[in-house]
Amino acid sequence: MDKKNNNRESWSGTFGFLMAAVGSAVGLGNLWGFPYKMGANGGFAFLVMYLILVVFAGYVLVMTELALGRATGKSIIPAYRVASNGKMTFVGIFSALAPFFIFGFYCYLGGIATNYAVANIGDIFGAAWGVNGVDGTTYFADFFTNQVKASIFTIIFMVVTIFIVSLGVSGGIEKFNRVAMPGLFILLLIIVVRSCTLTGAGEGIAFMLKPDFTVFQGSGWIHVLAAAGGQMFFSVSLGMGILVTYGSYMKKDADIALSGLAIPLADTIIAVLAGLAIMPAVFAFGMEPSAGPGLLFMTLQNVFNSMGAAGPFFGTLFYLLVTIAALTSSMSVLEAISSSFIDSGIDKGKGNQRKKIVWIFGLITMIEGILVSIDGLGTYLPPLFGRFCWLDGFDLLAEGLLMPIAAFCTVIYFGWIKKGFLQEEIRLSSTFKSEKFYSFCLKYIAPVFCFFILLGQIDSFFGLGWF
Ligand code: PHE
Repeated sequence: MDKKNNNRESWSGTFGFLMAAVGSAVGLGNLWGFPYKMGANGGFAFLVMYLILVVFAGYVLVMTELALGRATGKSIIPAYRVASNGKMTFVGIFSALAPFFIFGFYCYLGGIATNYAVANIGDIFGAAWGVNGVDGTTYFADFFTNQVKASIFTIIFMVVTIFIVSLGVSGGIEKFNRVAMPGLFILLLIIVVRSCTLTGAGEGIAFMLKPDFTVFQGSGWIHVLAAAGGQMFFSVSLGMGILVTYGSYMKKDADIALSGLAIPLADTIIAVLAGLAIMPAVFAFGMEPSAGPGLLFMTLQNVFNSMGAAGPFFGTLFYLLVTIAALTSSMSVLEAISSSFIDSGIDKGKGNQRKKIVWIFGLITMIEGILVSIDGLGTYLPPLFGRFCWLDGFDLLAEGLLMPIAAFCTVIYFGWIKKGFLQEEIRLSSTFKSEKFYSFCLKYIAPVFCFFILLGQIDSFFGLGWF
């Protein structure tokens, strides 16, 4: 009889873990969501709100999830079950459902980015399938209404994700991130320098950094809070068990307090850099900063098209950056989906069946990716929940409801009921100088923020017009 490997996998070391966790955090949320939401929510005012949220809620939640994962050594649902003697299993279930909804549409977006990278590469060689000379808006509309093309790119992106995750925690996810994340950072810096030195870039920089709080007037601050809060949850990969899962692969001597700082910090720095890569160029070419989701795939492509001969090169660099960032995030989503099933196989003594499980769930969730592709952003299928295009419907279900509910219940439980449990775990491997701050925020501040974020999200999900 062959000997089954019934050991759980783990990261090879702190650097590898950090690159993987930052890789999960840094994605479309940073390169796309942050700049466009900032553009639509008053620029600097949004930035300030975002930073407050990261310090008082993001930092706390990152540590909470990592500590929960490492303390229990389990994936999402059993982690919540074990830590609460069954009382919080439903939170684990909410958290575990979110990645199921996210994976398909996230890979659709990754597929679009891949298509743009390929098209810009084509332009370098003057190929017919390039995008240069085509208006960005027309090109985007042609892409998403072409169901076959959109499905093919989504499937390619999914298969690459599935393949890397199937190689393992340290042998696949960590290995890829160790190379991809430093590379991504360098690419981003090159683009920031180019963007900020364009003639007319100053206005874009001022839009990001000049104090102006007019959007906060009346109940405006709640909108900004909800937008910044939802954005932060998504961007730091909170409330969906990803960091619980990644924490469960941490060794007992890995510093949680340090990681709690490093992950949201790196994520925020990259979001701000992405703003500095995008806004100055948008202003320099006289385009709209508040274009909404179109910013990345329409406005920016127009910017590259206006850059003359250098356009395709910067376009290629930029969309490669977006594709890699999306890939390192989608890997974490698939890992969160698969890990509970991998664990349960190990618990039953069936050994580590990673390859099989990752491919099975990758292929199941591919159905969602294909449905989103076929919907063509609301062009073809009837609206989901009667109101949304399929992409938005899945996104709002996960980001708008499941994630904030899970996060709210988590901070309430560990701040008020099972007090000190996580702190003890963090102290095992850290000096934990911020323990008082952490405990205070976990108990009082994070729940309030989570509550308001949830209210804001429910308001926009059901279109209630409360605020
Ligand atoms: N954090 C990723 C981003 O910013 C997206 C993501 C969300 C990844 C949720 C995993 C879980 O794009």
